[in-house]
Amino acid sequence: MAFPESFIEELISRNDIVEVVESYVHLNKRSGSNYFGLCPFHNERTPSFSVNPAEQFYYCFGCGKGGGVINFIMEIENLSYPDAVANLAQRAGMKLPEDRYDPNAKKRSRLLALNRDAARFFYSQLATPEGRAGTEYLRSRGISPATANRFGLGYAPDSFQSLLKAMQALGYSEYELFDCDLIRKSSRGSFYDTFRNRLIFPIIDVRGDVIGFSGRIIGSGEPKYLNSRDTPVFNKGRNLFALNLAKKSKSGYILLSEGNIDIVSLHQAGFDSAVASLGTSLTSEQARLISRYAKEVVLAFDNDGAGQKATQRAIQIFEKLEMKVRVLQLSGAKDPDEFLKTRGADAFRLLLEASEDQIDFRMNSVRAKYDLTKDEQRVAYLKEITEMLAGLPDPVVRSIYGERAAGLAGVGKDTVIGEIERSRRGLLRRAGRSEQKAMRRPEQTAQPARSTARYRNPASAVAEEGIIRLLYLEPTLYSMKGLPPPDAFTSEELASIYRLLLSRRQSGEAVSISSLSSSLTAEEMSLLVSILQKPEQLSGSQQTMQDYIHRMEEAQAASSGSEGRDLRAIASDLRERKGYNQ
Ligand code: CTP
Ligand code: MN
Repeated sequence: MAFPESFIEELISRNDIVEVVESYVHLNKRSGSNYFGLCPFHNERTPSFSVNPAEQFYYCFGCGKGGGVINFIMEIENLSYPDAVANLAQRAGMKLPEDRYDPNAKKRSRLLALNRDAARFFYSQLATPEGRAGTEYLRSRGISPATANRFGLGYAPDSFQSLLKAMQALGYSEYELFDCDLIRKSSRGSFYDTFRNRLIFPIIDVRGDVIGFSGRIIGSGEPKYLNSRDTPVFNKGRNLFALNLAKKSKSGYILLSEGNIDIVSLHQAGFDSAVASLGTSLTSEQARLISRYAKEVVLAFDNDGAGQKATQRAIQIFEKLEMKVRVLQLSGAKDPDEFLKTRGADAFRLLLEASEDQIDFRMNSVRAKYDLTKDEQRVAYLKEITEMLAGLPDPVVRSIYGERAAGLAGVGKDTVIGEIERSRRGLLRRAGRSEQKAMRRPEQTAQPARSTARYRNPASAVAEEGIIRLLYLEPTLYSMKGLPPPDAFTSEELASIYRLLLSRRQSGEAVSISSLSSSLTAEEMSLLVSILQKPEQLSGSQQTMQDYIHRMEEAQAASSGSEGRDLRAIASDLRERKGYNQ
């Protein structure tokens, strides 16, 4: 029955919930982070069905149904879990695995331990005579020992088997090293260290596990960066360099740049929310990951053609998540590192303050394509700019920028704004057609409203919900001291969600709405999703967790101290057992 974890993860990442839902329901963009539409699971006239693209779940405020993409297909197509998985696999063009047992599950923690030991080995090399090349290089790039420590930087010696030998001495096998891409196999069949004579950047995920490595060549040469290939514990497209540090930043935004050296320099200069993708262009999963930790992102890519392209691409991805995007224009420097070296941190801070709004940035890039002194180019410019502006949801914003475009092209503002609105109606009409298509589906019978979990101790349950929300959103909290045992929860449903989250966090398995689909009942899933609707601030999450635990204890102490409440609880228990509904 069970599918391999890695398969489900890939399935979920290749079936974006917004796209899947949109093939059944017409969704409108709203302010805030959700899409809204008419709920396919009950009859309604005003939309209360929401889809959250960042967290990849849906939730209906009317009927209380909610879940991830797999739940959605189960519900709307009336399929069992394995059939819904098969349906989505087909949609994404994926083959179903033959063997549903996940052989990687046990291996994971062993491979993570190996990565950690390898990181320690690289780090320790910096203190040896062989490591001189590494320390020299760090010095030449202006990276202080304290910064190097913070990132756990290291050095891979210029030799073919030093890591291999060191790890074998710790009891790891060649196969394990090979699985982590720490060694590779030569054409003659012998194993050699993957990283040689390179500055090593361990890649650490938000849980704090070392999942892979980037190695920068010392000096010049190709390839400049060598990254771990995808392994059972590492996937380039789903992780970001330095997010383990940036997630703790209080800056309120994430600074997205490119080279690992840039990131290290930025942190060293006090810009502690800098992250980079790992040698690939930004993926929507990386963007979602970022959107969890900040609602605003500042793009600081290299100051060249490739960087501009990367910027455009990133803007489009972040816009879908309703993230605020600003673009940093590095003038006179090729990248943030060079800018910091030549102009200093204060100049960079000024740049950040002046960084452009995404609409400005796009307006300017369209503007730069045309010569507006020529009539036919002005027409082409207006065509492109009205189409772009028509896609913006806010009418006020559309007219402000429409007016600006009109000024640039030297035509009346009413003409341009009229054209934008016409173009927008066309857009909406096309969107509307897919809605009608969805309506032609057999009418879904109205579902009974969600049986609001009747809590025995509402005050405690609210705190229990908070604990669940934090545990879900913040992957490091499971190891915190003083977490209550599941038995201390006053609600059975909440206890079972909590128990599951704890065990998945402890074993390092994925925690996402969709990956939990197979382990929770539909009611539990809806409950979990409704819990996640409430906002939670993730900075200072340890303290918040402690507050919740404290409130839970207080609520329970108060209720056991008060006879009246206790009696009510007993009465409600009895009703429950007798099967009364109200
Ligand atoms: N790159 C990569 N793997 C990484 C990081 C970057 O393959 N882990 C690639 C990027 O895709 C990009 C280039 O390397 O093509 C970035 O190089 P650059 O920005 O020059 O990196 P820096 O660290 O800034 O290098 P330098 O030391 O020259 O400043
Ligand atoms: Mn760079």
